[in-house]
Amino acid sequence: MATFQSLPGFREFYPDDQVRRKHLFDLWRRTAHAFGFAEYDAPVLEPLDLYKAKSGEEIEGQLFSFTDKGGREVALRPEMTPTVCRLVGARASALKRPIKWFSIAEFYRYERMQKGRGRCFTQLNADIFGEPGPEAEIELIAMLTQCLTAFGLTEQDFYVRLSDRNLWCYYLAALGLDEPRTRAVLTAVDRHEKYGDEAFQGYTDQFGPIDAEVKAKVLAFLQVKSLAALEATLAPLGSEPITARLADWRKLLGGLQAMGLSRFIEVDLGVVRGLAYYTGFVFEAFDRKGELRALAGGGRYDDLVEKLGGPALPAVGFAIGDMTFALLLEQRGLMPAFAQAADVYCVIGGPAARAAAFADIQTLRATGRRVDYPMKDVGFGKQFKLAADSGAKLALIYGDDEVAKGTVKIRDLNDRAEHEVPRDHVTAVVRDFFTAS
Ligand code: HAM
Repeated sequence: MATFQSLPGFREFYPDDQVRRKHLFDLWRRTAHAFGFAEYDAPVLEPLDLYKAKSGEEIEGQLFSFTDKGGREVALRPEMTPTVCRLVGARASALKRPIKWFSIAEFYRYERMQKGRGRCFTQLNADIFGEPGPEAEIELIAMLTQCLTAFGLTEQDFYVRLSDRNLWCYYLAALGLDEPRTRAVLTAVDRHEKYGDEAFQGYTDQFGPIDAEVKAKVLAFLQVKSLAALEATLAPLGSEPITARLADWRKLLGGLQAMGLSRFIEVDLGVVRGLAYYTGFVFEAFDRKGELRALAGGGRYDDLVEKLGGPALPAVGFAIGDMTFALLLEQRGLMPAFAQAADVYCVIGGPAARAAAFADIQTLRATGRRVDYPMKDVGFGKQFKLAADSGAKLALIYGDDEVAKGTVKIRDLNDRAEHEVPRDHVTAVVRDFFTAS
């Protein structure tokens, strides 16, 4: 008989996996709340047009798309950014600024599978709308950093590479490049780390070989690793937009320094981000050892809300993926071992005892205790084994004699100490036990 397996790149979460995943989401959510972000959600299936020419060629080529029964061209969402722009754009005038929103949701991309990359993954997305200055970037990079440090990761484990598409555009304009050539150079920069010199092939195909002096200046810009080096490289160009932009850089790095985060940040003009909509600062988080693909990525996208039919609204945000992140936590031994244990296990005698136990079980569960019991009548020996296996700290013993007397025996499963209490004290005794332990 044929066996049915999940599709390649789609993950299944058995309870032991799900509890670890939930751990990530719980801490991410707590961090987002600490930064004053409000949670939203949105549809998994969207009109295909939402991504066409907005997300960029790479993502467009990876879409899970089809025509629905109503003849609509639709796609499973590959990212949240266009969707959140639509949501915010539709109510922009009613929303209090700055708008700070986050979501934890699943995304779908038909990617070549590799370590840390699947076809279905979860991201935490955090975005700020309505703030044009680098104050928004400070807030988001601080939150991104805390989303990682909250798990015990340090500057020895990860860093955030910070770059700027605006500065690239001003720099290339000052070198005499027009807009199409600037775009082609940025594509080459995006690919340079992976493909080296070959990255310029696209430029050559479009415009002929790149001017040797321009290329040397592009490669020199890639070597810039500090604000001081950035200033030294750009000052001689005497360009007004560059001077204004450097003030933004100082504000951004100054804010991050004041938050005590400089140790996580590296100036690195090699990051330009593949997505088509970014317009300013861009950043990506990586593991220090360089063994994994990006942990997170984001940047400013000031035109997208308007392009999607909303008002002109500045925006900046980032997303962390769960796959690379979980791998990094495992590698560093920072993924806790989770035991899914009951608090209380009930050991039960005959039918009258079962009826009494059921009533108390429901009362205890209503107080939030995790209470378990054997579904079938089995001997006491077997039930004590089940109690031990359940991981419970306490056993409540509903023997026929005790129930007839209106009492219950309580056994501490750790030291086996046992005492008998009136049944109507059970809830209070259990509560006191867990408060004390
Ligand atoms: P992105 O760089 O495409 O940005 O994805 C962000 C993160 O999602 C990546 O760094 C990675 O951890 C995870 N990720 C992406 N693709 C996969 C995959 N196939 N398998 C596993 N993990 C993956 C965006 O998606 C932007 N929309 C982020 C953003 C939000 N920009 C502004 N706001």
